[in-house]
Amino acid sequence: MASQAQPDLTNASPAHGARHVAIIMDGNGRWAKKRLLPRIAGHRAGVEAVRRVARAARDLGLECLTLYAFSSENWKRPANEIADLMGLLRHFIQADLDEFHANGVRLRVIGDYRALEPSLVDLIERAVTRTAANSGPIIAIALNYGAQDEMLRAARHLAEKAAAGRIDPNEIGVEHIDAALDTADLPPLDLLIRTSGEQRLSNFMLWQAAYAELYFTDMLWPDFDERALAKALDAFRMRDRRFGGL
Ligand code: IPE
Ligand code: IPE
Ligand code: MG
Repeated sequence: MASQAQPDLTNASPAHGARHVAIIMDGNGRWAKKRLLPRIAGHRAGVEAVRRVARAARDLGLECLTLYAFSSENWKRPANEIADLMGLLRHFIQADLDEFHANGVRLRVIGDYRALEPSLVDLIERAVTRTAANSGPIIAIALNYGAQDEMLRAARHLAEKAAAGRIDPNEIGVEHIDAALDTADLPPLDLLIRTSGEQRLSNFMLWQAAYAELYFTDMLWPDFDERALAKALDAFRMRDRRFGGL
């Protein structure tokens, strides 16, 4: 006798309805300061939060999680802090890539990461290539990312195409700009979270955030966890997104 059919939940969309969440991971320095620790301790604790939230993203059924790790303006910081951040990034990829790969995660990078140190660029590209054929969620890390720089590179790319006669300037539409951005093959951004109480975008995903819901929390990034992400997604679920319509 045939057993009763079970509903297939593998492709069911989660109740919160968000496909793509991006996070401005802010407040590592203040977290450390509160504990009288050096800033690097805050960044280390921030990496632990990244691990927790990357796992939570999968459990919560997100298709894509984009994390702002280093902005194109963060080069203004002291050289020793930049070196600490690059060291943590290197260590993170080396230590966590196997787990990501085993869990089917596709690792991606947005931003002008090619300007980083060559051995780091190589490490990043190998990690992206190794996980490219996976079918699980995308974890996109924003490295040396600035939305204005991203749009500038997209504008140059389109201008070069136009100059070469490969595209008619009058035919350029929103979809051409979408396709020229670093986020070209990521799902549309649904929810943009910023921790640490600051209420600004700091040059993050300005184009993609056109109709994203914004969520600000006072929690410092190293304190962020699965519950905090679930809470943000609950808030998102209650929002009434109208996209200019009624
Ligand atoms: C976010 O924490 C991490 C990066 C920008 C790399 P911060 O380092 O900005 O922490 P605060 O804002 O000084 O507390
Ligand atoms: C934004 O945080 C960049 C990242 C989280 C990587 P910042 O700490 O650099 O932003 P501002 O300077 O306070 O705007
Ligand atoms: Mg900050």
